[in-house]
Formats: sequence, C-alpha cells, structure tokens
Amino acid sequence: MSPLLSIENISKGFSSSGRRVVALDKVSLAIAAGETLGLVGASGSGKSTLSRILLRLLSCDAGAIRFEGEDWLTLKGAALRRRRARMQMVFQDPLAAFNPLANVGTVLDDPLRIHGVASKHRRAGEIATLLEHVGLPAEYACRPVRALSGGQRQRVAIARAIATRPSLLVLDEAVSALDVTVRGRILELLVDLQKQQGIACLFISHDLAVVRAVSHRIAVMDGGRVVETGPAATVVAAPQSEAARALVAAVPRLW
Ligand SMILES: Nc1ncnc2c1ncn2[C@@H]1O[C@H](COP(=O)(O)OP(=O)(O)O)[C@@H](O)[C@H]1O
Ligand SMILES: [Mg+2]
Repeated sequence: MSPLLSIENISKGFSSSGRRVVALDKVSLAIAAGETLGLVGASGSGKSTLSRILLRLLSCDAGAIRFEGEDWLTLKGAALRRRRARMQMVFQDPLAAFNPLANVGTVLDDPLRIHGVASKHRRAGEIATLLEHVGLPAEYACRPVRALSGGQRQRVAIARAIATRPSLLVLDEAVSALDVTVRGRILELLVDLQKQQGIACLFISHDLAVVRAVSHRIAVMDGGRVVETGPAATVVAAPQSEAARALVAAVPRLW
C-alpha cells in the first residue's frame, strides 16, 4: 500500500546577507495512514522549513511530495484549497493562528463554513462535538479566545485543525510553550484523538522526550538532513547517529 504522505528528496536553500544557507538537503520521509511520525532535531536543523513546504506556505528548490495519491506540490487554485482541508497545521503559538478577540465558536465556525457545512444549526452541533473531542465544555464556544489559558487555546487550535476532517495533522512545536503538566495533558489528548479518529500526525519538536511520548516512529534531522529513522523505542534506546545520541543525552532524568 502506498503511504499517505511521501516526501522525496526535498531541498531548500536560503540566501541571507549574501550567504547561502542549505536548510534542507534531499530530505525523504514517508507517513502511513494513521501513523504518528516524530520529527526531532536541534534548533536550526530544518524542521520548520520542511513543515512550511509541506503546508505549501513556502516553495522548495527540488524534490516531490505525494499526499493522498496526488502530486501535492503542483496542486493550485481551487483544487489546492479543497485538498488543504485534508492536511492541517497546529503551531506553537495558538494566538498567532487566530484572532484573539474572536470567540471560540467563531474560530471553529470558519473552517466548517469554508469546508461546506452550510447550515448554521449543523455547524453549532459540530462545534459542540469538536469541543467535546478536545476536552472542553460546549459553553466555551461563547468565550473569547484571549480569556483562555495556554493549554485551552492549544485545545481550540487542535479542534480547529480537526474540524475539516484531515487525514494528516502537522504539529510544529505545538506543546513547546506549555507548562509540563499542561503539556502532558495535551499529549494525552493527541494520542487519544489519533487512536479514535485514525488521523496521521507529523509531530515536530526539538525535545526527544516529547516526541517519544506520542510517536510510532521517529526521524532525526541534523543540518538539513534526515540522519536516522526508526521505531520510536529503538531510536531512543539505541540511537545510531551522533545527532540522535546528543538528543538522547539531553533528555533530563529524574535520578
Ligand atoms: N526565511 C529564512 N531566511 C533565511 N534563512 C532561513 C529562513 N528560514 C529558515 N532559515 C534557516 O534555515 C535553517 C533551518 O531553519 P528551521 O527550519 O527554522 O529549523 P528548525 O525548525 O529545525 O529550528 C536555519 O539555518 C535557519 O536559520
Ligand atoms: Mg522550528
């Protein structure tokens, strides 16, 4: 069976103050339907550049991406807008992703409307269901986003991301700004959602412990390359690359 997503030899360079930076050097990865792939690497290793290319927020210099059987990088216009519903993003800072003055209900109503849930009554029902999926009471639909805690905002961001019934969620440092206990609950929520709804995830973080908690497989990036890929337990227990060993050594221990 072909994977849900395959990234093939993606390269990307930036010119900054006359210097050429190779952000991605022939990166290849695949994600199966319903699978969580953790992408871990030190700051500057190219993770966010890859996620932005994947979300079609940035173009690449070379390579190809197939998503749900289609040539993802050549889609444009209405076809791209339609297909975008199937791949959704959760960012580190949920406030940057939506208008802080809006109510939670409005934040969730927009994607439902754009993706063709025509009746207002049906959308209200779906909003209540989405809130329930992310562990928030239905009354939260009436609250302004800015009145929510960081963890609650990230729950709303996840609810919005799953509103269009995507087959893939891309989460870039989605829990990195949260306190440890809140982070743990959001990770539990992601694992539950993934099990219940079978959504595949590309879970990106610089923190191997966080990636380990949610991923089936882990890919390690270093200097714009994928240097190691394997089952999550194996990468953590027996890292093969220098970069993976450094990330394992950086995980704090309680004894
Ligand atoms: N818009 C840009 N202009 C110039 N350099 C960039 C730009 N975006 C990213 N880079 C560079 O590309 C490399 C990878 O960055 P990034 O993808 O943000 O890494 P990560 O998310 O792993 O921290 C870094 O060297 C970074 O400085
Ligand atoms: Mg980043």
